[in-house]
Amino acid sequence: MNVFPVRRMRRYRRRIVQELFTETCVHVNDLVVPLFVDERIDRALPIGSMPGQVRYPIGDLSGVAARIADLDLPSVLLFGIPAAKDPEARSAFAPDGVIQRSVRAMKEAVPDLVVCTDVCACEYTDHGHCGIIGEKAGGQDLLNDASLELMNRIAVSHAEAGADVVAPSCMLDGMVASIRDALDESGFEDVLIMSYSSKFASGFYGPFREAADSGYSFGDRTTYQLNPSNAREAILESTLDAEEGADILMVKPAGYYLDILAALRDLGLPLAAFQVSGEYAMIRAAAERGWIDERIAVMECLTCIKRAGADLIITYFAEEAAGWAREEQ
Ligand code: PBG
Ligand code: ZN
Repeated sequence: MNVFPVRRMRRYRRRIVQELFTETCVHVNDLVVPLFVDERIDRALPIGSMPGQVRYPIGDLSGVAARIADLDLPSVLLFGIPAAKDPEARSAFAPDGVIQRSVRAMKEAVPDLVVCTDVCACEYTDHGHCGIIGEKAGGQDLLNDASLELMNRIAVSHAEAGADVVAPSCMLDGMVASIRDALDESGFEDVLIMSYSSKFASGFYGPFREAADSGYSFGDRTTYQLNPSNAREAILESTLDAEEGADILMVKPAGYYLDILAALRDLGLPLAAFQVSGEYAMIRAAAERGWIDERIAVMECLTCIKRAGADLIITYFAEEAAGWAREEQ
């Protein structure tokens, strides 16, 4: 290697040539818009823990779909807040449940919008856990095998409503294979599964619990979500989901787990990263105080998530970032 003064790295950074050497660009097509839909309201309701985000009534969704399509954003991920909760999450698979109605409304308004749905029970159970709860050694816990049938029913009901991608987020063993079977048996072999395959038990989901009304009444999620300290276990989780037939793998949260994203590239499947509510709220809060420049910080985070290996980025900043990404192209 030539060294200084022959090798001058700053030559690459002359303003006129900088763009020639840009390795990673966030594209509008990479972004997925998460949306909260509350079937109990008829006007959009601001989410206190996530300034700038709202819960939408179902009636707003055709307009929201058109707005998102106008920004050229290809895809949304839906979270529902139902009118009724019970221990078995029955409102999660009702044909006229909040997500089922929401999917129909959005697909009717914009048929080529890719509609993804979160498949989980925590917004629909009165105890707030992600599936069926029962007695295990050590006390009340999420029951794995007993919850699989519930996930199958939720996923099939979303597909029947017209969902293009179902995204199971409960971190149950065997959930991807189980849902794949159920979808195929119902004739939905073309519906994709985006598995929350490496999902960590994170403190950064805090603002989401208010947004989606999905806080739990006892315990925590550490008996099903990953320990943030465990990289090899996280890679094994995603490897198993790939073997079970997942079409898209996911790492969640995104920004602190770039090593996991980078490692999962080797599996060869498309990779999604979920920049979660806490990652969003921290940037928003600092920007509101004038402590950081929001646009620079957001585009930096998204670029780094993509650089680490994400093909898709699920981010609450998607609508703003769509405009910024286009200007930077
Ligand atoms: C529910 C779910 C959660 C998130 C997405 N799906 C919360 C949790 O697992 O506790 C978090 C999203 C976010 O924080 O933005 N299974
Ligand atoms: Zn859940």
